[in-house]
Amino acid sequence: MSFELMQASIKKAEKYISENAPQVQKGKYRQRYHFMGQCGWINDPNGLIYFKGQYHFFYQFNPYSGFWSQMYWGHAVSSDLVHWTYLPIALGPSEEYDNHPEGGCFSGSAVIKDDKLYLIYTGTANHGNGFVQTQNVAFSEDGIHFTKYENNPVILPPADVPTDYFRDPKVWEHDGSYYLVCGAQRGGCAQALLYKSKDLYHWQYVNVLLESRGEWGYMWECPDFFPMKDKWVFMCSPMGCKERTTVYFVGDFDYHTGKFFYTVTGELDWGFDFYAPQTFVDGNGRRLMVGWANEWDWMPFWKDWGPTYQEGWCGSFGIPREVKMNDDLTLSTTPAQEIMSLRTNPAHVDRVRVDHAETRLLAGDGIAFNVNFKIDMQNTTARQLQLLLRVDNARGLEVVCSFDFAHSEFRIDRSKGDNWSKGISRSPLKIDKNTMIDVEIFSDQSSVEIFINKGRIVHSMNIFADDHQSGIFVKTANDDGIVTLRDVNGYGLKSCFE
Ligand code: FRU
Repeated sequence: MSFELMQASIKKAEKYISENAPQVQKGKYRQRYHFMGQCGWINDPNGLIYFKGQYHFFYQFNPYSGFWSQMYWGHAVSSDLVHWTYLPIALGPSEEYDNHPEGGCFSGSAVIKDDKLYLIYTGTANHGNGFVQTQNVAFSEDGIHFTKYENNPVILPPADVPTDYFRDPKVWEHDGSYYLVCGAQRGGCAQALLYKSKDLYHWQYVNVLLESRGEWGYMWECPDFFPMKDKWVFMCSPMGCKERTTVYFVGDFDYHTGKFFYTVTGELDWGFDFYAPQTFVDGNGRRLMVGWANEWDWMPFWKDWGPTYQEGWCGSFGIPREVKMNDDLTLSTTPAQEIMSLRTNPAHVDRVRVDHAETRLLAGDGIAFNVNFKIDMQNTTARQLQLLLRVDNARGLEVVCSFDFAHSEFRIDRSKGDNWSKGISRSPLKIDKNTMIDVEIFSDQSSVEIFINKGRIVHSMNIFADDHQSGIFVKTANDDGIVTLRDVNGYGLKSCFE
């Protein structure tokens, strides 16, 4: 019976998509090369996996409107990580443990066992006494059509964990056993709980892998945990941590006690629009990471999801990134190489001398583009370099990216970016007179992502701008000094949705 119920909810949603997506896709602000849903709302990447020679993206999906509501798992596949083919919805609300109108099939992960694809996800129900979150399993032979396990739920919240703070399982295999980490809360503080299983159906509680005493917030959404070099990395999107959207911890893990000890922490992104990322290892052994290019609006009071709901959709993913560990155990994330295959119309300049007058940089049509350069600090005397993106001088619109050498800070100010968005993201910017600062910029119709020093610092910011906002300029900020840029490259980026 349950199989038919889910098929019915998927069929209804697919019908809505086929009738409405063509219109939505003609609307404003649609990204050109970032992953989006066909229509409606998307948030977290789920179940990212490389299975039978294809990349699979699943995602939190409400096909019916540009707002979050009851959750489905959308599904798409790609052979190159750049061009995506949409598949039928993989999971839809159908059971008493996952069919509440304000619940549904929440985030989770994927794992391969005996050649089958398994999805482990959070069902969110409400039987009249508050939300209840449980962990559940679905499986598929072909990687397209999924069946929910008949004895779901497979994990219930522990007695002293609030039932609405128990979600987002991330599963991995080790030595013939499966391990799962999920977000939880005890005593008002965030915890990550570790479970173990032989068959993905019967789970045994192991330990509190890691916990916050309050300094890391009251709930960790979408935790991820994986080995890298001879260390382990824990990452999550903390609730109740002010502007920190996604943080990581690096340390040592002991399989016997199920405890993780960290020595290094950091932020995966300093912008406002990078949340709930998930990582996976692809066929080449790379650890790839994909995040939702947005976040919830509980943090800065003015934040929202942008104007695209008026067009019947909301949400995209950031460009897939490769995760690397530096010698000091910090993490860097760099754009996956595949994205470079979209480059077109290269423009190169060896050296640019920047002063207080605006110098134009060339890169494609100034909307969907990639620019990279190095700031030559030995030949720089100014206190600040300003990079202006998505500029339309006639309307006074611009996104101001400031490399503030005097204060060792990098900022993106989007408050004049689009007549909608607000706010200034900030991060430290390490200044060393003897080295170059390496800068890589990816712009799309509604977003800007800036990678500094090979991804040690990243800012992802959404900007909802039209095609008139196509100027790219550099200048110094009100001082007599100069900035020297080296090896300046600009490219257009081809669209993936034509
Ligand atoms: C994170 C999150 C998850 C939850 C999902 C619901 O963005 O809140 O914790 O599973 O989104 O859509």
